[in-house]
Amino acid sequence: KQEEKLRPRRIEDYIGQKDLKSVLAIAIQAAKGRKEPLDHLLLYGPPGLGKTTMSLILAEEMGVQCKITTAPALERPRDIVGLLVALQPGDVLFLDEIHRLPRISEEILYSAMEDFRLDVTVGKGNTAKTRSIPLKPFTLVGATTRIGSLTSPLRDRFGIVQRLRFYELDELTLIVQRTAEILKTDITEEGAQEVARRARGTPRIANRLLRRVRDFAQVKGISPISQAVAAEALELYEVDPCGLDWTDRLILSAMIENFKGGPVGLETLAASTGEDAQAIEDVYEPYLLQIGFIQRTSRGRIATPAAWKHLGYV
Ligand code: ADE
Repeated sequence: KQEEKLRPRRIEDYIGQKDLKSVLAIAIQAAKGRKEPLDHLLLYGPPGLGKTTMSLILAEEMGVQCKITTAPALERPRDIVGLLVALQPGDVLFLDEIHRLPRISEEILYSAMEDFRLDVTVGKGNTAKTRSIPLKPFTLVGATTRIGSLTSPLRDRFGIVQRLRFYELDELTLIVQRTAEILKTDITEEGAQEVARRARGTPRIANRLLRRVRDFAQVKGISPISQAVAAEALELYEVDPCGLDWTDRLILSAMIENFKGGPVGLETLAASTGEDAQAIEDVYEPYLLQIGFIQRTSRGRIATPAAWKHLGYV
């Protein structure tokens, strides 16, 4: 798949997240030196910042397989049991949205993570027995957008807990240039910067915007992509100069027009925009907070003067 070609495969090709890379580089070297699997790792932060990519890199660096799954797919305990028993020594199991793991599946993970052992109940009622199944040593990489929704017994079983940050403009520019090269698209440095500026600090968005800009330039017969062309294309797709899309602007203008800028509670805001409260909190709000367009107070969210100004209300 196209998407897969864009992912860096080695840690030295991964742009940005400097602190995370330093921590992991040491963990990798130490684990390899001891011929042991990596410690379990919990990655948290907004979507699209590279949690899956980093998990694939870890497996590559350790010379093992990475199995990828997501918590909602593990509804029944036997789903997670099946995955765990199939792991080879040292394998990485990437478990996305780990905060959504059902309680029974979560409890199976405890002994699996701690002792590489499964405790399962066989049979029912009087004849029920617990059976212990040994597992190969493995590394669990958990990923979540909401660290606060994890239970502490689960969180405490991760040896390494790391947050992914939004990317700086220069980092995102490098990512856009790298992706353009893989897609065989000519783009000037200023063009790449324009795409990066509108990508909300998020590589997944940067790569998506680059594809739209590349379509636009191709259809117009323009190459290389200049800053003006990038800007014109992204205006067409309603991505504004701060990277806000239609939904971001809807959220902000609802706060301003319906609630005089706030404070307004999350559920109220969700009802008034028709967006899902969880999506507002996990997907839209983190970047709006980061650029200072929203503040969270004890009485709800408020739109800041910068947001009023950006949307042309003052
Ligand atoms: N593509 C997406 N994210 C990336 C990153 N952090 N480094 C390099 N290429 C990427």
